[in-house]
Amino acid sequence: MSERTLAIIKPDAVKKDAIGDIIKRYEGAGLRPVAMRMLRMSKSTAEGFYAVHRARPFFDSLTTFMASGPVVVLVLAGDNAIKRHRELMGATDPAKADPGTLRAVHGTNIEFNAVHGSDSADTARFEIGYFFPEMDVVAR
Ligand code: CMP
Repeated sequence: MSERTLAIIKPDAVKKDAIGDIIKRYEGAGLRPVAMRMLRMSKSTAEGFYAVHRARPFFDSLTTFMASGPVVVLVLAGDNAIKRHRELMGATDPAKADPGTLRAVHGTNIEFNAVHGSDSADTARFEIGYFFPEMDVVAR
């Protein structure tokens, strides 16, 4: 069943000029971009996006990092896209991510981990709507 998920190429990966490599890997895995935009989040936009993590000790530093430079936000579509994107990203901590996964290749540590992906269908709906009105998501 075709599904949508939200991906973010984080400030660390944009700074390393890894945008092209990451999108190439999405396409190679059959995860097709159906919406895409580059933007710089304000601190409060990052706080709203990560609101579920508000009580975590790393919340302030995570949202400061996410607002520290431009990011690329994408909606990816494909069969089982949420789970397959998470497999492609690898574990949250790049040191624990399987070799060849996006975080193993491009991440630095558990905070500067190159990419974000929705973790469930409900989260994907919220996260896609956070950045894209429905009319900006195309059919392919
Ligand atoms: P992400 O998939 O974007 O979801 C939440 C983010 O919080 C996560 O990737 C990491 O960047 C960050 N994060 C998760 N756990 C920690 C942690 N223990 N310390 C610092 N940052 C974390």
